[in-house]
Amino acid sequence: MTQEAQIRVVRSLNHPVFHTIRDISEELKRPAFVIGGFVRDLYLDRPSKDIDIVVLGSGIELAEKVAKKLGGLRLTVFKNFGTAMLRYRDLEVEFVGARKESYQRNSRKPIVEDGTLEDDQNRRDFTINALALSLGKDNYGELVDPFDGITDMEKGIIRTPLDPGITFSDDPLRMMRAIRFATQLGFRIEEKTFEGIKAQKDRIEIVSGERIADELNKIVMADKPSIGFKLLELTGLLHIIFPELQAMKGVEKVDGRAHKDNFYHTLEVLDRIVPNTDNVWLRWSAILHDIAKPRTKRYDKKLGWTFHNHNFIGQKMIPKIFGRMKLPLNEKMKYVQKMVGLHMRPIVLSEDIVSDSAVRRLLFEAGDDIDDLMTLCEADITSKNEAKVKRYMRNFKVVRKKLKEIEEKDHIRNFQPPVTGEMIMKTFNIQPCKAIGDLKAIIKEAILEGEIGNNYEEAFELMIKKGEEMGLKRAE
Ligand code: CTP
Repeated sequence: MTQEAQIRVVRSLNHPVFHTIRDISEELKRPAFVIGGFVRDLYLDRPSKDIDIVVLGSGIELAEKVAKKLGGLRLTVFKNFGTAMLRYRDLEVEFVGARKESYQRNSRKPIVEDGTLEDDQNRRDFTINALALSLGKDNYGELVDPFDGITDMEKGIIRTPLDPGITFSDDPLRMMRAIRFATQLGFRIEEKTFEGIKAQKDRIEIVSGERIADELNKIVMADKPSIGFKLLELTGLLHIIFPELQAMKGVEKVDGRAHKDNFYHTLEVLDRIVPNTDNVWLRWSAILHDIAKPRTKRYDKKLGWTFHNHNFIGQKMIPKIFGRMKLPLNEKMKYVQKMVGLHMRPIVLSEDIVSDSAVRRLLFEAGDDIDDLMTLCEADITSKNEAKVKRYMRNFKVVRKKLKEIEEKDHIRNFQPPVTGEMIMKTFNIQPCKAIGDLKAIIKEAILEGEIGNNYEEAFELMIKKGEEMGLKRAE
């Protein structure tokens, strides 16, 4: 263990919460330890506010006394689980009695008995998550590390403490956790552990969609999410939890012409977007932007490989994917759909001489999400040909500039019809009817085409002209 890590441990355990736990545990003669993620993150220098305390005896009894001593803090007790939780300043501290667990085949819910610290460490998922620091008076801060988690941490290894078959079969969510930790920490999954995931992959079926989505989102939010998706693919989990992404892997060749591997392309786009956004839904848009390519793939002797309409079909595939994965079916999903649907547009614009009306149309459709769309499109340029990448990037700059200029002039981003339905009805003295929608559409089109400006006067004038052409008469 490094000296810096040692110093962090000493400094961290100097906190009044830990001192209070030490004193009460001594008084009750119930040894207590801080364990799990908090200890791991302390060594890895990743600040953490969630503290797990394991007690040889009742976690609730110790927690009640600690809460009282710290000034009558509110304690949340979960009697069924034998746990209690309190908040002290910005820390969340959870107390539980040391336990031994045994699992049944069809459930992630274990049968729980009281146990020793060793039993408690045995039931944990990975060696790096089984570290405990003593809070005893005589051995305060002493590390209890039966599986040499410290070495695994130094070497950057994810490994189960027991036979991986048992650890993963007991709780299959741990397969996702292994891959998530490997992604977040940049660690390698040790061979036997990796083989264990491959062998138990089908058990993922008993894990709820919500839990899988939580882990996936943590992978998506990591600095290099491609690590996680590659591991999901290699272990066979991807095929089960995200078959649409799995289907993107592979290259087909006809007449000696191959298309690119869309799985690896997608992962590259995802990694490329990371430095430019912390918006999890924009990152999901990167994952899903080409999701319909396998479905739309065709080979044509003249054109080569085409993926006609893959943006629109991809947009339509998203509700089913989000539903199955228990991702939100609300405006977040609509945003992802919009990104996927529009992701080709800026590229087309950057290839042609950009006309003002094309820019206005894009502004109209993307609205306030236009900057996110540009971010996605820039990440989508993954060509190995540097000159080509440079050209695209240069063109995108032009598109961005043009978007800015036109928006300043025409205010299309949050387009509000300058002439409302009400005004049309009043002007021509008519009841709600189809003509109103038609007139509004004509005005919108004229603005987007640049035939009239986006203002009341010009829109009103056009409304009168077109209304009269339609046979409407102005009210007296
Ligand atoms: N744990 C486990 N198996 C699980 C979940 C958790 O063995 N499926 C154990 C691990 O020892 C873990 C501890 O419970 O360290 C706390 O779990 P949790 O708070 O969910 O995760 P952390 O490891 O703290 O990591 P993170 O907060 O990043 O999820």
